[in-house]
Amino acid sequence: MEKKVTYRCPSNIALVKYWGKKEEGVQIPANASISWSLSDLFAETTVVARESNDTNLIFNYDGQPKPSFEPKIKDFLNRIAPYSEFVTKHTFEVNTINNFPHGTGIASSAAGFGALALCITDLERMFQPETLEFYQRASFFARLGSGSACRSVYAEPAIWGHHDVVGNSSDLYAVPYTGLVHSNLQGWKDCVLIVDDGEKKVSSTAGHSLLKNHPYAASRFQQAQKNIENILQFMQHGNISSFIELVESEALQLHAMMMSSIPYFTLIRPGTLAILEEIWTFRNETKLPVAFTLDAGANVHLLFPQSIESEAMNFINTKLLVYCKNGLYLCSSTGGSPTKIAE
Ligand code: PMV
Repeated sequence: MEKKVTYRCPSNIALVKYWGKKEEGVQIPANASISWSLSDLFAETTVVARESNDTNLIFNYDGQPKPSFEPKIKDFLNRIAPYSEFVTKHTFEVNTINNFPHGTGIASSAAGFGALALCITDLERMFQPETLEFYQRASFFARLGSGSACRSVYAEPAIWGHHDVVGNSSDLYAVPYTGLVHSNLQGWKDCVLIVDDGEKKVSSTAGHSLLKNHPYAASRFQQAQKNIENILQFMQHGNISSFIELVESEALQLHAMMMSSIPYFTLIRPGTLAILEEIWTFRNETKLPVAFTLDAGANVHLLFPQSIESEAMNFINTKLLVYCKNGLYLCSSTGGSPTKIAE
């Protein structure tokens, strides 16, 4: 017996960052994080499940076998197998594509593991009754592939990690933020300015583990918890300037933690800093609400409300393009949901 399904899953960008784990193998975050989904930067994944007790895996990326990705997918299947009889009784063929060019330094694992987890959860429910609500279970599985991926399965801002002010929050899966979001902070756009398209010198896994004996870890985790509480207030009240200050501070704290790890490292490049300076100058001069955030890499995410899109695009094209590798940047709406493409 063979079953097949396809899901499209957006990437996401954290506004309050997850950096550091309470428990490594099982991806328990040291603090709560919140993200927006990036609906125009997505993975589209088809999974064919065949009844079998062996653990063979076929994995194709963009139509071609990709042996270098296979160990990660196998690890993922091994991690979710204890929770799913379905996984232990099937072998999988996985075909995946990203709609953004490979080698742009954009983390594809959030979209990729999000899409894979959605496919497996959907196939599984044809086989065994659900134990969690569908998206919660998909998020639970996605977390075991890549922590940040668990936030990709929701259209709403997604919160992952237990926090007292978010009633249903959990370390095991992300939950959608269904509270009020002021119109000032709805429908923002994110243009990712590609400063460096190379492989990261330090992987996220290695970066997270450096928080173990980090001198500032405890206060960083406390700060992040506080920032979750604050950002939810700013989102409810539409306080744009406080939102921008918090989001930029979070990005800089993430990179400050890297620079103050032992061994220390930085993923920021000269072009990254030049863009941040340009953003601060532009904001001062125009009073327009443009903000940046950073992932674990050199690229800059320029965030702005849709209402100032033409000014923001003009800013990118006149001031920021020179810092973009091969003039490349990729724009996305925020807030799109995953979609089932085919069965
Ligand atoms: O999901 P991971 O293990 O690749 O970690 C990602 C961490 C950051 O992207 C830097 C922050 C975040 O919350 O997404």
